[in-house]
Amino acid sequence: MKTKILLVFSSLIFLAVFCFLNGKTIVVKNIQSRQNDQQTLPQNPLNGRVVFEQKGCINCHAINGYGGKTAPDFGEHNFFGGDYDLISAMWNHSPEMFKQMNAKNIKKQEISAEDFRSLRYFLNFLRYLGGSGNIINGQKLFSKMKCNECHSVGKVSSNKISLNKMGVYASPLFLAQIMWNHAVKMQKMQKQSGIKVPLFKDDEFADLFSYIESVGINSKREKVYMLPGNPVKGEKLFKSKKCFYCHEQNHIGPDLTKYNFNQSVTKIAGMMWNHASNMQLAMIESKISYPVFKDDEMANLISYLYFKNQNPVDGSAEKGKKLISEKGCINCHSKGNSYNIPAVSVIGPFHSADTFFSELWNHLPLMQKKLYVKGKALPRLLPSDVKSLYLYFNRKER
Ligand code: HEC
Ligand code: HEC
Ligand code: HEC
Ligand code: HEC
Repeated sequence: MKTKILLVFSSLIFLAVFCFLNGKTIVVKNIQSRQNDQQTLPQNPLNGRVVFEQKGCINCHAINGYGGKTAPDFGEHNFFGGDYDLISAMWNHSPEMFKQMNAKNIKKQEISAEDFRSLRYFLNFLRYLGGSGNIINGQKLFSKMKCNECHSVGKVSSNKISLNKMGVYASPLFLAQIMWNHAVKMQKMQKQSGIKVPLFKDDEFADLFSYIESVGINSKREKVYMLPGNPVKGEKLFKSKKCFYCHEQNHIGPDLTKYNFNQSVTKIAGMMWNHASNMQLAMIESKISYPVFKDDEMANLISYLYFKNQNPVDGSAEKGKKLISEKGCINCHSKGNSYNIPAVSVIGPFHSADTFFSELWNHLPLMQKKLYVKGKALPRLLPSDVKSLYLYFNRKER
């Protein structure tokens, strides 16, 4: 009896150890697989706005004029595209930033991996949101593009389709979505009437919308807002609306990963409109019904395209290995150094690039102090350097 209990007991221990070890290999495997640098998609890229405020970035940096004035405005000139761009820029500018923080008595705050990710998505998303359109330019476009041949806005005209109800919308993306939905019929009619189907470039969608919205009645009613887009939902739509079928699976349409979608959402919507009639012909041939969008669907889809095509950053673990000495990391991170600084061989692996960014950022003040004592400048790190270092720290053999 006693041996039986013992047997059961020991096999339970065996099972537990087995599971534990197994779990562990899964974790290691997961970290190793991160080396292929897979992108994740945000659910709501705007979440990072909170981090931007909580971490005090807003004290010095503004977004389109709202915020501090002593540092670059991220809405105006700056754009951090790929995953590695933000940490590289923050790292390289940190000496000046820290100087200002000291002067202003602002505490340097640590940033967690989670917060880094949100911040990165948020700053990256600013270009997507685009600026507001230009009403005067929109008014010109309304006649230049011959919308006025078939439509009225403001004063109603009996033989024209009024666009006044567009006035309830608060985002140019509604116009893009509704026009996309009606594209087949509208473009057919335009051709029949000898009107060239207008092509959209730059911010023309936003301009045209601003005009229609400004003269459309209904301004008193509650505005209908469109959420800026959920890339995770967009990825699903990319499959369910058959974009995947033509653009990835069967190469009927061009390879969309070759396009630069780091542009405002209305510009991307313009690209879709410009190709709507050719796409529709391809759809008829492939017996696919023309996709129609409702609610936030177009925003979700476009935000997915936007995040999917980030400029890939070069980098390799081999290069990372060289950088450890080239950038002077080894001066402090050598084996058995007398300061108890972790040796290169024990740093990492990191669960994600953001975990690495967070570690890098949080160790900067101490590192800068040490360099400062030695009279040395902070080494500059390009985005590709950060990636190479990340890959190196995630490699088993070092
Ligand atoms: C005390 C003021 C201050 C705070 C707080 C601050 N910054 Fe800065 N930041 C600056 C200054 C000044 C520069 C320009 C430095 C230079 O020219 O080298 C800068 C530059 C940058 C750059 C590079 C911009 C470019 O043109 O490439 C990035 C990215 C950046 N900051 C991100 C952040 C983030 C993210 C936060 C919040 C976690 C933050 N900063 C907090 C003052 C600040
Ligand atoms: C040749 C005539 C013609 C021209 C030119 C034209 N449209 Fe249209 N438009 C139509 C027709 C017809 C419909 C209704 C289509 C349908 O029912 O599917 C429509 C529908 C629309 C709708 C949806 C209206 C609603 O209430 O659902 C919008 C928005 C729109 N057009 C905007 C524009 C804009 C902006 C331009 C100029 C760039 C333009 N259209 C140019 C004929 C035209
Ligand atoms: C039946 C096949 C087919 C389907 C389905 C399809 N496309 Fe296309 N797409 C094409 C073809 C073909 C072109 C090139 C059209 C041209 O040359 O004008 C194109 C062009 C485009 C372009 C423009 C690229 C450029 O040159 O600027 C975008 C953006 C695009 N498609 C997005 C989408 C999205 C998003 C979906 C899903 C809603 C989708 N497509 C569904 C076939 C398809
Ligand atoms: C002047 C000395 C010095 C130099 C040069 C230096 N570091 Fe560090 N590093 C430190 C110190 C000190 C710590 C521990 C900081 C802490 O505990 O906050 C550290 C910590 C780190 C960590 C976090 C380690 C962990 O797992 O907790 C990383 C990652 C790191 N350094 C990367 C680098 C890289 C990459 C370089 C070269 C670009 C570099 N360091 C250059 C002093 C330095």
